[in-house]
Amino acid sequence: MTPLHKVIIKKDTNINPIWIMRQAGRYLPEFREIRKKNPNFINLCLNENLSSEITLQPIKRFDLDAAIIFSDILMIPYGLNQKVEFKKNFGPLLGNININKISKLDEIDFIKKIYPVYKAIKKVSNSDIIKNKNIVGFVGAPWTLLVYMINKQSPKKNLKKNFFKDVFFINRILLILEKFLKIHIKNQVENGANIIQIFDSWAGLLDEKDLPNYIYTPTLNLVNYTKSLGVPVICFPREIKNYKEFCNIVKPDAISIDYNVDPKIISNEIKIPIQGGLDPKILLTDKETLKKETIKYLNIFKNHPYIFNLGHGVLPETKPEMVEYLVNVVRNHQ
Ligand code: CP3
Repeated sequence: MTPLHKVIIKKDTNINPIWIMRQAGRYLPEFREIRKKNPNFINLCLNENLSSEITLQPIKRFDLDAAIIFSDILMIPYGLNQKVEFKKNFGPLLGNININKISKLDEIDFIKKIYPVYKAIKKVSNSDIIKNKNIVGFVGAPWTLLVYMINKQSPKKNLKKNFFKDVFFINRILLILEKFLKIHIKNQVENGANIIQIFDSWAGLLDEKDLPNYIYTPTLNLVNYTKSLGVPVICFPREIKNYKEFCNIVKPDAISIDYNVDPKIISNEIKIPIQGGLDPKILLTDKETLKKETIKYLNIFKNHPYIFNLGHGVLPETKPEMVEYLVNVVRNHQ
């Protein structure tokens, strides 16, 4: 059994496997090298030779316990024929939603459009260095994808005032997303993903009263679907106010926490395996601080099934040397 499966399935507390959100990305010179020659991010995700190579870059460098496939949550709106661009120094920029076109889209056409993502997973799973490691497939949660699809760019701190003006339209999009996210999960699993992580990066934007409709119900449906495929599912409802309630209702196999969560409180409140928490900004400080903060998390979760990770993605300005140091601290602690 792989280290992550030992923690998630067997609830092993003797090991602390480690992988890092956004581990395949801009802080790595070998990624920037490839990126420089490939200005179109979507096309890069759709190049199975390069995307599988990028997926393995951090594994080769740091021997992490899991590879997360180099792709993006916004490949789903792209697969649904919404225009998606990544603008330098701005982030994602989406086009208008054509609801008639999206409603008529069938499974085959959707899969055709993003097929290289699955081929890349297959390639990674055939690689020797992935032995005894996991391949993390992922999706954006319906809520977070809805935010991008309607807002057409990252929302920063708040939703626009008229975000909910057409609730009928929103609910229709959510149902379409649920259908295609299941298809996306299934195809990732069939090609070798053996953990699924659901990223709900904008969970923190919702009022409590809206959580059941926009987060709990749609995410629970995806969690149950993933479990039915026999694959464990990790949820990351970033900045949601009540992680405990989320876990009680959605029942993921493991929960990834953001860096605003108090690790001591959560370790008492939540019984399921926990992942992450360390503020990615700590990797921008010095080795002494990094060691101290890392050991703090390891000690708090000493008797809890725990996967080491960050409380959000690794920042582009991080020195690879600091990531290497972090991995060593975690490994030497075991
Ligand atoms: O290494 C990995 O984690 C695997 C690949 C991965 C990417 N994006 C690659 C990427 C994963 C799992 C994601 C998830 C993702 N994408 C999320 C959820 C996690 C989170 O960060 O909250 C979100 C919200 C997105 C949407 C997205 N993609 C944004 C907002 C941006 C631009 C801002 C940014 O952080 O760069 C992207 C681009 C993106 N996705 C890059 C990478 C490596 C940078 C592309 C570049 O080289 O310019």
